Amino acid sequence: MIRAALSPLLLLLLVSWASRGEAAPDQDEIDCLPGLEKQPDFQQYSGYLRASDNKHFHYWFVQSQKDPKNSPVVLWLNGGPGCSSLDGFLTEHGPFLIQPDGITLKYNPYSWNLIANMLYIESPAGVGFSYSDDKTYVTNDTEVAQNNYEALKDFFRLFPEYKDNKLFLTGESYAGIYIPTLAVLVMQDPSMNLQGLAVGNGLSSYEQNDNSLVYFAYYHGLLGNRLWTLLQTHCCSQNKCNFYDNRDPGCVNNLQEVSRIVSNSGLNIYNLYAPCAGGVPGTDRYEDTLVIHDFGNIFTRLPLKRTFHKALLLRSGDKVRMDPPCTNTTAPSTYLNNPYVRKALHIPEKLPRWDMCNLLVNLQYRRLYQSMNSQYLKLLSSQKYQILLYNGDVDMACNFMGDEWFVDSLNQKVRSCWAVGAGVPGVALSCRGHTWRRLQS
Ligand SMILES: *[C@@H]1O[C@H](CO)[C@@H](O)[C@H](O)[C@H]1NC(C)=O
Ligand SMILES: *[C@@H]1O[C@H](CO)[C@@H](O)[C@H](O)[C@H]1NC(C)=O
Repeated sequence: MIRAALSPLLLLLLVSWASRGEAAPDQDEIDCLPGLEKQPDFQQYSGYLRASDNKHFHYWFVQSQKDPKNSPVVLWLNGGPGCSSLDGFLTEHGPFLIQPDGITLKYNPYSWNLIANMLYIESPAGVGFSYSDDKTYVTNDTEVAQNNYEALKDFFRLFPEYKDNKLFLTGESYAGIYIPTLAVLVMQDPSMNLQGLAVGNGLSSYEQNDNSLVYFAYYHGLLGNRLWTLLQTHCCSQNKCNFYDNRDPGCVNNLQEVSRIVSNSGLNIYNLYAPCAGGVPGTDRYEDTLVIHDFGNIFTRLPLKRTFHKALLLRSGDKVRMDPPCTNTTAPSTYLNNPYVRKALHIPEKLPRWDMCNLLVNLQYRRLYQSMNSQYLKLLSSQKYQILLYNGDVDMACNFMGDEWFVDSLNQKVRSCWAVGAGVPGVALSCRGHTWRRLQS
């Protein structure tokens, strides 16, 4: 009865009002994504968010497969700096994973969008399909946090129907810096319903990351006793070792050897027990080998020749491809550079090819924080957020022990200890030696 009473004019008004303020942007909706046998039941969007006056961040948003209206919004960022969050999408926890042929997508039974509205943003400008009008890709931690915050605001402007949903900020590796610095901005914005953050194998403190890595390497059998004894002699005194910013020339020499073993000897720095795609890198010669230590995240204080980087930069114009060490990016690159895929994702034709990581962004990136200590303490002190730091135990780029030491250094009250004996309630054998811990304020 009531419906019958609505005049056609009122209906028309309702419809036009809805499409202006309350609905997702039609032009960004992905109608048909190449590579899938069957298009998904959930909606997905790809387009651009305004990160500043001249920076445009590419986003890919996939609705939750379960009750999107009441599911949280979860932002995901990969690290580098300089690497694309579509790595997370296509090879980790997106709804479909790229297959080795670079053409086919397969549904992922462990996709995070089973229960969350997932927002993947390529950040900063210069990464993946994100760009800046002036093509300047020099940036720093403060600017990136601000840009990510602006992009997130723009997302909620485009998708106002999600602005009251719970919001979680997540990422891995160098996003160990991006996520807490962004969270500190978001927590001050009452228009966003921030509930928590999660960081996987994140860079939390360079000092703790380097110091723990040497122990990780020794106790995983990567360093011989001769090298270990030399490290003890030159880097340690009074039972305290400094593998981070030690100036002792003997220590520096031996740390360079550790660095070579960990990141340039054919071991996969992201998974000690996985093969290294592409095999053992060239040679050990420091002079002309491109020594990338996980994008410069480990042993940052160690003097290393960077001349090769500069020469490479000078030779190769404005887009320099860099693959993460031991990682084969052929399949995702093939897929994302397919013109039909780019069209489906609404990528402007003028943009250059998609690469997993952009070396120029990485090399020109200015790191401003040595530790995320004050950011986490600020977030914890509000007593409002759930914070999860989780680690896989065989990653050496940001190893579990460094993050564990970092969490310990925050001096929070321990609510419940790590337990061996899964499924046995109440078993709490130890608070030490675990690979992840949940922080709760
Ligand atoms: C990388 O993966 C592609 C398939 O996606 C394969 O054809 C190629 O041989 C691989 N390259 C290396 C170096 O493993
Ligand atoms: C970070 O980048 C912004 C924007 O370019 C700049 O204004 C700021 O001075 C930079 N901060 C530092 C400490 O370099």
